[in-house]
Amino acid sequence: MGCACQQSNSIYAPGLATIVTSEQMTETERVFEIKLKEGMHLGHRPGQFVQVSIFGIGEAPISVSSPPTRDESFELVVRKVGNVTRALHALPDGSTIGIRGPFGTTFDIDDAKGKDILFVAGGLGLVPARSYIKHVLANRGEYSRVIVLSGTKSPAERLFTDELAEWAARDDVELHETVDRADDQWTGNVGVITMLFSKVKVDAANTVAVIVGPPIMYKFVIMETEKIGIPRDRVLLSLERRMKCGVGKCGHCQINNVYVCQDGPVFKLSQVFELREAIQ
Ligand SMILES: Cc1cc2nc3c(=O)[nH]c(=O)nc-3n(C[C@H](O)[C@H](O)[C@H](O)COP(=O)(O)OP(=O)(O)OC[C@H]3O[C@@H](n4cnc5c(N)ncnc54)[C@H](O)[C@@H]3O)c2cc1C
Ligand code: FES
Repeated sequence: MGCACQQSNSIYAPGLATIVTSEQMTETERVFEIKLKEGMHLGHRPGQFVQVSIFGIGEAPISVSSPPTRDESFELVVRKVGNVTRALHALPDGSTIGIRGPFGTTFDIDDAKGKDILFVAGGLGLVPARSYIKHVLANRGEYSRVIVLSGTKSPAERLFTDELAEWAARDDVELHETVDRADDQWTGNVGVITMLFSKVKVDAANTVAVIVGPPIMYKFVIMETEKIGIPRDRVLLSLERRMKCGVGKCGHCQINNVYVCQDGPVFKLSQVFELREAIQ
């Protein structure tokens, strides 16, 4: 039973949902477990987002962070930046919010079967990437190498630290982390995320790359995937643009002839390579 829109039969009207639990992760990020009302399941795929509405305040697109393998409730990680996200952070557990979606294109979990997957996650990019990573780990035998390169500005901004520790301890996950600026406790790599490419030997012929992070990161990470020679139709990017309707009607998210909310947010590099505004 999928899609919050089934409560209202409209892609514009939010379905009702409950905040089951929430927890502060960092100074600005909070993770929310959300359950749709009336026993509905979200039915998302990794890479998709939902439009979260706080009644009387507004709506914001937020990526689904939990894997589709766990669908009775789902997780969102929200950075407090403006009206909607500030209001969401202030809501107590048990509150009712609105959910539209899931929307957008997805990371192709079937196409990547049997291949190595190279995840490159910068900052909040780990949020959508985690949905895919957890799906792969729940179906580990279907994929070959799993390489995760993850970077944040500082150690205090690392998300899902318990899970990062679990992945680091597994011998079937190659996790490499870095921070732009270390603190007294940090003993790991220091530097931008692209420095982690020197730590792994990637088999270009058998690798799918999944890249999610802040806009500035794409140009430099793409230089690395091009240098390695990963074909552009096996380099997947999730692009973030300002959105309103989420369903291809308002034009807020448009880059030339591309609507990020409908044609994306997940694109193959081959689709957007010539669209300089998308990746620079
Ligand atoms: C597909 C997708 C997935 C996303 N996933 C996540 C996620 O998982 N977690 C998460 O925390 N965020 C995510 N975001 C970002 C989130 O949707 C935005 O931060 C959203 O704007 C927050 O809404 P708000 O009302 O709280 O803040 P807003 O009031 O929209 O302000 C947010 C920030 O944007 C600036 N801003 C406001 N208006 C404009 C404008 N017109 N142009 C440029 N800048 C402006 C503000 O100064 C502020 O810094 C995602 C966005 C997209 C498109
Ligand atoms: S957000 Fe309205 S067209 Fe994409």
